[in-house]
Amino acid sequence: MILITSAGGKTGRAMIEEFAQSEEPVRVIMRRRDMDDELSALGAAEVFHGDLANVADMSAAAAGCRAIYFICPNMVEDEGIIAQSVIAAAKSAEVERLIFHSVLHTQVQALRHHWARLFVEEAIIESGVPFSILQVGSYYQNMLPSWDKMLETGEHGMAYEVEAEMALVDLKDVSEAANRIVNDPGCVNGIFEICGPVITLVQKAAILTRVLGCKIEAKKLPVDKVIAHAANMGISDFGQDCMRRMFAHYDIHGLVGSPRVLEWIIGRPPTDFETFARRIIRLRADAE
Ligand SMILES: NC(=O)c1ccc[n+]([C@@H]2O[C@H](COP(=O)([O-])OP(=O)(O)OC[C@H]3O[C@@H](n4cnc5c(N)ncnc54)[C@H](OP(=O)(O)O)[C@@H]3O)[C@@H](O)[C@H]2O)c1
Repeated sequence: MILITSAGGKTGRAMIEEFAQSEEPVRVIMRRRDMDDELSALGAAEVFHGDLANVADMSAAAAGCRAIYFICPNMVEDEGIIAQSVIAAAKSAEVERLIFHSVLHTQVQALRHHWARLFVEEAIIESGVPFSILQVGSYYQNMLPSWDKMLETGEHGMAYEVEAEMALVDLKDVSEAANRIVNDPGCVNGIFEICGPVITLVQKAAILTRVLGCKIEAKKLPVDKVIAHAANMGISDFGQDCMRRMFAHYDIHGLVGSPRVLEWIIGRPPTDFETFARRIIRLRADAE
């Protein structure tokens, strides 16, 4: 049995779908109670309800599990508390492995929520529990909520410079790599950078223009407007501050990384942006 945390989010759902293809049953833990059917349909064998920051909830969820795939909710101030709870549960369940879904560049102090994760990684390394850490780049999928707006306006926008170099990655490649790491004992004690080759908004817009057959322009969105929208969606003050710092950092440094590790893990080059875009267009056409 493998336990996946934060299972109802986009990362969690992708992991359930991928891990469920192996024979080992998947248990998930989440707070919400209105997604059980959806997560079962994706392949979760057991749905547990509880708070990741609550040691009793986490320990109950981890009991009997071989491994924990730890996804932390995004940009939360109590990440350290959640991590301690997950580590305590990993110890009480005597799991074979604690796998942490981290982010690229936890070394960068300016990226407040990445930097906080450096200390989660440290706590995991020092916990004595066998571990693997995936340092994951931003997903191509982050643009999907604004896909319709892009078609309407002819603009592919993000709140950072259009020439910023980003080592974006297909979440499907990430889950495939995660599944391999989880099932390969040789990956114990490893830290893996999981990202694709760098690409800019301008390059993505040129690809989108070609595959959609209509002009798409890259646009830097006003940061204040994007953060106001995030606030309306319920993102906390802490999260908003993380976003502001993140966009300022991306403007200058992007978020770069090497695709070689992912290529080695999945045994092929990471999915390129054009292949991803064509897949989305096909899926949307099929759904109509
Ligand atoms: N998005 C990216 O491009 C990207 C790239 C690399 C790494 N990551 C990392 O992936 C992780 C997940 O990101 P995401 O965008 O997939 O998240 P998400 O869609 O926002 O999902 C977060 C999930 O966490 C759950 N949650 C929040 N607080 C909880 C708590 N105290 N106890 C139990 N469940 C709780 C939420 O469930 P409820 O509704 O039940 O609260 C929700 O299902 C983050 O750590 C992020 O840094 C993301």
